[in-house]
Amino acid sequence: MANPTHLASHIRSKQATIGIVGLGYVGLPLVRTFVEAGFRCLGFDIDPKKVDRLKAGESYIGHLSAEWIYEAVKSKRFEPTADMRRLAEPDAIIICVPTPLTDARDPDLSYVVGTAEQIAAVLRPGQLVVLESTTYPGTTRDVVQPILERGGLQVGSDFFLAFSPEREDPGNPSFSTSRIPKVVGGIDAASRDLAVELYRQIVVEVVPASSCEVAEACKILENVYRAVNIAMVNELKMLFDRLGIDIWEVIAAAKTKPFGFHAFYPGPGLGGHCIPIDPFYLSWLARKFEQPTRFIELAGEINTQMPQYVVERVAEALNDASKPIRGSRIAVLGVAYKKNVDDPRESPAFRILELLGDRGAVLTYHDPHIPRLPAMRHFRVPDLSSQPLTAEFLSSQDCVLVVTDHDAVDYHLIAEHSRLVIDTRNALQAFAAGRTNIRKA
Ligand SMILES: NC(=O)c1ccc[n+]([C@@H]2O[C@H](COP(=O)([O-])OP(=O)(O)OC[C@H]3O[C@@H](n4cnc5c(N)ncnc54)[C@H](O)[C@@H]3O)[C@@H](O)[C@H]2O)c1
Repeated sequence: MANPTHLASHIRSKQATIGIVGLGYVGLPLVRTFVEAGFRCLGFDIDPKKVDRLKAGESYIGHLSAEWIYEAVKSKRFEPTADMRRLAEPDAIIICVPTPLTDARDPDLSYVVGTAEQIAAVLRPGQLVVLESTTYPGTTRDVVQPILERGGLQVGSDFFLAFSPEREDPGNPSFSTSRIPKVVGGIDAASRDLAVELYRQIVVEVVPASSCEVAEACKILENVYRAVNIAMVNELKMLFDRLGIDIWEVIAAAKTKPFGFHAFYPGPGLGGHCIPIDPFYLSWLARKFEQPTRFIELAGEINTQMPQYVVERVAEALNDASKPIRGSRIAVLGVAYKKNVDDPRESPAFRILELLGDRGAVLTYHDPHIPRLPAMRHFRVPDLSSQPLTAEFLSSQDCVLVVTDHDAVDYHLIAEHSRLVIDTRNALQAFAAGRTNIRKA
């Protein structure tokens, strides 16, 4: 029997060691938050290259500085390791590993299962395990708990297990990890209370939920809400465009309503690890219960159509200049999935590049955060490096296509020197008046 009061006081006094599994876009900022709150962190990753880079004081995430990593590693507040046997050391283990989809678009829990097995191999009485990876309701209880109990230890008496969804918004300066409230559900009350105590040390607010399932469903609700609302404005964008109405102006007007309206913005398609993927975790579960999830499917349909829509707008604009896509020089501006980050995962830019390449465009790109296009599992990616954004480069292009509106880009320069700009983010709004070379898509 483990005594939860002992662990709770260890947490409160910040004597507890925290183990973070998965040192990616979520895990690494979480390490920083714990270290800054005064805890010692062990960081686990199966990718030895990442561990080596961290040990050398390097960062592979744009918004987390190398200086911070260097100092944290040097002062031994943060110890990165690929040695999973050391999972026996931390008092609390937080799992932040990927939860992607399989090729058949079903949940791929192999990383979560793999991590649970690594923990189970060394689990000791008194440890608290928290799953943060986004997943369908029931994963913590039905998938993780049985693996952890394989060695004979019982949840609630020997060790503790909770779910607390990750809500990281990478690159958002207003909401770093510590400023985002955290929802926490436990397999039992003791597990929940310990996890609540843990997160209380590092975030502004902790919101206890009555079960892991509620906490798991909460994250999926947040992401379905975004996917559906983005799909709705994307659909309205296409309609309003036909009617000669600017959707951006409509949204700016609508959001002056002080209640009952939350602004969502159209774009070239969904990207990132969350919104294009997480809703399908729920629709997979719904199929098992023979319950349709029509909003999720419809939103997916509309959002995945957007790259094609953007390419049609490019074709139309070039046609007006008596040019076909074939042979036209087209520069894609911004390939990260959203502004001011260096994360290319699921970015609509890659589908757009594929569609334009198939139609014979001569492609280049500029992205201040992505110096070279990475290989992607689901896309044919051209071998390109980011081109310097100069007046000469811009004027040499038949079309500049703004896919991601990074702040570190000189949009005035683009407006001044490009023959044709297709703007999917309203990034050139301030320079568009009176210019015929700028079109929205
Ligand atoms: N990136 C975001 O903005 C974001 C936001 C909210 C939620 N999430 C969720 O958080 C989770 C993690 O996402 P991410 O963006 O940090 O992923 P990521 O790919 O950036 O990082 C995951 C890390 O886990 C490591 N890993 C995989 N299997 C492992 C194992 N068995 N043991 C140790 N390490 C292992 C990988 O090498 C990788 O470094 C996902 O469930 C995601 O849906 C992400």
